[in-house]
Amino acid sequence: MTKIDSQTIQPAFVIGFANGKGGPGKTTLALNSAVELFDQGRRVALIDAEEGGINAAALNRFEPAIETRTARTAFDIDDAIQELSEHHEIILFDAPGQTSGEEVATICSVADLVVVPIKLSLKDVRGSQSVLRMIRRSQLRQNGRPDSTIVFNEVPPLPAGRQSRSALHYRRQLVDLGYHVSRCELRFYEWHRLCEFVTRDPNANVNKKSDKCAIDIAAFVYEVIVSRLTPEGRVANE
Ligand SMILES: Nc1ncnc2c1ncn2[C@@H]1O[C@H](COP(=O)(O)OP(=O)(O)O)[C@@H](O)[C@H]1O
Ligand SMILES: [Mg+2]
Repeated sequence: MTKIDSQTIQPAFVIGFANGKGGPGKTTLALNSAVELFDQGRRVALIDAEEGGINAAALNRFEPAIETRTARTAFDIDDAIQELSEHHEIILFDAPGQTSGEEVATICSVADLVVVPIKLSLKDVRGSQSVLRMIRRSQLRQNGRPDSTIVFNEVPPLPAGRQSRSALHYRRQLVDLGYHVSRCELRFYEWHRLCEFVTRDPNANVNKKSDKCAIDIAAFVYEVIVSRLTPEGRVANE
């Protein structure tokens, strides 16, 4: 009988993008982060839990060299992570549009880090409370795992040096509730709506709009993902 040895594969750093609400920017962040990490030479893969795998298909059309899987059940997600860990240092998991409590529980059990994108409105911040509470309860049960952070999305673009008042307001409220909010924010760019999720385009140098949203994605990838990795791609301080 073959001996099961969980030590043979170096586990990848798994990042879940989750929010019970539909539309806060999970796929926008996950797909653009995949492309940015790939461009940096990282061995990154994406698991798409959306019905029909439409987001993996969009990423494949844009950058076929990034490996993708579709997986919806906890078993399939676990299998996909095991398999992708053999050749990848980072696995991004894009949760479905309306993420159920069960799916959040699965993400909390497999992810090293959960990123909760929230759009800047009272409705969106309130609508994110249940997923934030679930993540916190998992952390209490699992020795602080998974790590988690909130990223504000669709922040109004303002001139350099000026900050969105609503972003400041909600940041303060969420921090007071004990949640971690990333410094980086994703500003609202029409380009994100127009380009089938992925920001990098072959004309990035001439298209200033796409350039600007790529800057926000690069800041997110650096602060939230790369800063947590060791040179080998594993999460630091484990
Ligand atoms: N920063 C942004 N600026 C403009 N449009 C955005 C931005 N982030 C997301 N969107 C748009 O909002 C919609 C929902 O985003 P999406 O990433 O699909 O959310 P989710 O995956 O959480 O359901 C999409 O049409 C997307 O293009
Ligand atoms: Mg999505």
